[in-house]
Amino acid sequence: MLKDLSPNKGMCFDIDDENEVAVFKIGDKVFAVDNICPHNHVPEIYNGYVEEKNVSCPVHGFTFNLETGLQPTGFGCRLRTYEVKIEGGAVHVAVPEERRFDFGADAYE
Ligand code: FES
Repeated sequence: MLKDLSPNKGMCFDIDDENEVAVFKIGDKVFAVDNICPHNHVPEIYNGYVEEKNVSCPVHGFTFNLETGLQPTGFGCRLRTYEVKIEGGAVHVAVPEERRFDFGADAYE
């Protein structure tokens, strides 16, 4: 729920057994991104430092724009961003069909 999000602080939610989303509320906007940092694949983005619409990964400090997933320089790895919809105080995140990890049984067929 929207009321459960703290301003400028991330929360982590499971998408499934292997995938997580990090959700941030900044002002009246909500952003959802992959919780796994694209730099070294550490699931700590939700613990990142938020400034304006950017989050800095707590592991090595790479900074990503929460809207675009790009680094402010426009170069380097990009954080995956997800579409967010707010309805009646509930936060809905569009889960991508292609997950970062998919260890389902059919992955081994
Ligand atoms: S793992 Fe995030 S900046 Fe290195």
